[in-house]
Amino acid sequence: MRAIILGSAAGGGVPQWNCGCANCVDARSRGANRTQSSVALSADGERWILLNASPDLRSQLAAHRELWPCGPRGSPVAAVILTDAEIDHTLGLLLLRESAAALPVYAPAGVTALLGSEWPLYRVLAAYAGVEPRALEDGRPIALADASGTPLGISCSASAVARRPPRYARAAPAAPAATFDVGLRLTDERTGATLAYVPTAGAVDDAVRRVATGADLLLFDGTFWSDGELRAAGVDAPTAREMGHLPVGGPGGSLELLKSLGAKRTVLVHVNNTNPLLRARSPERAQVEAAGIVVGADAMEFEL
Ligand code: MLT
Ligand code: MN
Ligand code: ZN
Repeated sequence: MRAIILGSAAGGGVPQWNCGCANCVDARSRGANRTQSSVALSADGERWILLNASPDLRSQLAAHRELWPCGPRGSPVAAVILTDAEIDHTLGLLLLRESAAALPVYAPAGVTALLGSEWPLYRVLAAYAGVEPRALEDGRPIALADASGTPLGISCSASAVARRPPRYARAAPAAPAATFDVGLRLTDERTGATLAYVPTAGAVDDAVRRVATGADLLLFDGTFWSDGELRAAGVDAPTAREMGHLPVGGPGGSLELLKSLGAKRTVLVHVNNTNPLLRARSPERAQVEAAGIVVGADAMEFEL
């Protein structure tokens, strides 16, 4: 199984259009760029599954030969899995509207509901190729398949992580908060290799343990280093924990907790532009690296 980090940044990317924080200023001056959160995964190297559909999907698909069309029309993108209904993980679906056939989109029920109503991507896309929503049920592994129903050689089990619904849906009819956000355990059915994908997590709890324990690779929420990071950058914003992102550093941060999951490799993704981990020589970065954890970057590839 191969995994490619298409985009390693949280919503807004790096640099974010309206952000003058030290990291965004530095990225502009160097012409550096981190695109928004997404991963591509394949068991056969030919048909690929997108884990989340980023607003930067167009440039992400262009950046990887594996994802280029092989004929006059068509795409190696065989299916999409959505872990949440946030804008940074779903806007890219609109960019796939030229597809010839309805695209299979796996998602938990709460996400599918939001994309048909409060954030009506599925309604809009119905006038184009449309999507074929497929349900991800909590804790029940399913064999992923392409649009024709041909298995992709990967099974997927979802677990609801501790997060609230997206900001645009706070007034949505009460539904179990759990269905709005999941972590994934993806297993190569031939080799048994496992990828745990948890780009957003409010805690290292039983749900995270279910998907991540002993995984060959864990891609985990690296949004914020500290709880008050956005405010420290001069932004009037909630804390990391209020936003449903467990900070990496500090007491009770993920750095202390991830070790206990026993994943062979752990890589932080969905990294916000304010995060000191983005600075190669920061003490925070040194601390993470000393723990054997890697700060993810666009185009990192993994063979599992
Ligand atoms: C999140 O991950 O918390 C959201 O994507 C935040 C946002 O960009 O609205
Ligand atoms: Mn996000
Ligand atoms: Zn910034």
